[in-house]
Amino acid sequence: MRKSSTRWLLALAGLLLAGAAGIAWLNLRGEASSPQLFRAPGEVGAPASAAMLEKGAYLARAGNCMGCHTAQGGKEYAGGRAMQTPFGVIHASNLTPDPDTGLGRWTPDAFWRALHHGRSQDGRLLYPAFPYPQYTRVLREDADALFAYLQSLAPVHAPAKPHQLTFPFNTQAALAVWRARYFRAGEWQPRADAPAEWNRGAYLVQGLGHCAACHSARNSWGASVEEGLLRGGMMALQDWYAPALGGGLGEAQDLVRLLRTGVSSTASASGPMAEVVFRSTQYLSTDDLQAMAAYLQTLPAPRAPAGPVARAGDARLGAKVYTQHCAQCHGEQGEGRPGAFIALAGNRAVNLPDGSNVVRMVLQGGYPPATQGNPRPHGMPPFSHQLSDAQIAAVSSFVRQSWGNMAPAVGTIEVYRAREKRRQ
Ligand code: HEC
Ligand code: HEC
Ligand code: HEC
Repeated sequence: MRKSSTRWLLALAGLLLAGAAGIAWLNLRGEASSPQLFRAPGEVGAPASAAMLEKGAYLARAGNCMGCHTAQGGKEYAGGRAMQTPFGVIHASNLTPDPDTGLGRWTPDAFWRALHHGRSQDGRLLYPAFPYPQYTRVLREDADALFAYLQSLAPVHAPAKPHQLTFPFNTQAALAVWRARYFRAGEWQPRADAPAEWNRGAYLVQGLGHCAACHSARNSWGASVEEGLLRGGMMALQDWYAPALGGGLGEAQDLVRLLRTGVSSTASASGPMAEVVFRSTQYLSTDDLQAMAAYLQTLPAPRAPAGPVARAGDARLGAKVYTQHCAQCHGEQGEGRPGAFIALAGNRAVNLPDGSNVVRMVLQGGYPPATQGNPRPHGMPPFSHQLSDAQIAAVSSFVRQSWGNMAPAVGTIEVYRAREKRRQ
């Protein structure tokens, strides 16, 4: 761990020396030559029509701006939420139109530049914890509607909290290097040979929906790799695995139901995905959800897992724990109870190559999101205090290898590590 971080500090120093001038150029390339970024005190923008405000509010849901820009228990959009990253803590900013601490003196140009180029009003490079690597695809007219909506909120005076990042990640130079390597401002390019529905879905998934922020692996620099393919990725520090979205997601109507209500006959949104459904996708129109499903279904299937899976784990212990603690909800044969408890037999989430989510679920339990389509979801209790690491490993392996499920077993050490991570 220590050794590899030294190595990449050196690599970073090298890069810093190598490319400073080129990087400055790359970072400025393609930006509007003389955008108007500041609004004079007292100057008001053009009034927005009701239709524009409504559109902006809808797009803000599609991008889940509120999720990150609202602190727990804080005022909506007033910022302050701390985001843990492998490089330290980053705080989301105040998006309300307060003139001193929010976007009150911003112009539509400045706002568009933030989404499209990842630069603040004063030119500061922004951290990609703000998903501008995806939002860069947002169309100018949509950015303008978002801005008009945010400007219509009640201003909240809430100064930005300073980020707590380790050196060198707290420098603009490091960010410039990162951007030169991993960020290109992108225009949304519809595919001429694809139906309008597919293009709308691709635009929402790749842009405002920023699905790739979680559903793509990140390299050691925290940049999403092969983001267009949505091949699945481990969420840094949170120990949730966001699975591949290509191939085998099932019928479009099930996917639409999952994104709208949080549950479908074959899946249930948990953890970070429950939040995405709760704050964002449940509000999207049926047309847009169908478009997203149509697009996702054309993504290539993930690479098949290598070879048959060895049966392992303590099957007798697993079966015993299952009968005592799980069967009353999930059924003796993992069949679940339609409309109440998800089936574990044939469940895609249970069969993922990576067992983290199953362990996570058993340790801490959880609720699917409460949505209009499923207002009072049943929950699952946490078992972290009732079951030992060995019992949790055994029951996780049991559900992954019974009733036709064929996924790798989970080891006791993985459960131990998952508990340790939660304590940090
Ligand atoms: C995954 C979390 C996340 C989401 C979702 C998100 N943001 Fe942010 N945003 C951040 C963080 C963190 C920052 C601060 C970045 C920094 O200071 O370098 C930020 C910064 C910004 C800034 C720059 C503010 C400033 O003072 O420079 C704007 C503008 C912004 N976000 C708008 C939006 C909009 C609009 C949406 C929805 C379409 C959105 N954000 C969604 C995390 C998020
Ligand atoms: C904040 C991280 C995050 C974002 C953003 C996110 N997801 Fe997820 N998603 C997850 C995690 C973690 C899971 C696994 C937990 C679960 O099964 O619910 C998941 C699961 C899913 C599943 C269930 C797959 C299965 O097993 O059947 C679908 C479908 C899905 N996400 C679609 C999307 C789409 C579409 C978007 C963009 C609009 C999106 N997600 C954005 C984290 C995220
Ligand atoms: C009181 C009923 C109840 C009990 C007991 C229960 N569960 Fe669950 N389980 C649920 C519910 C409800 C969900 C959906 C939760 C969510 O989406 O956040 C769930 C979800 C799951 C999931 C995730 C499935 C998916 O599609 O994402 C797994 C795996 C799981 N349970 C395994 C177990 C195991 C193993 C046990 C026993 C140790 C157990 N459950 C005990 C109700 C229960």
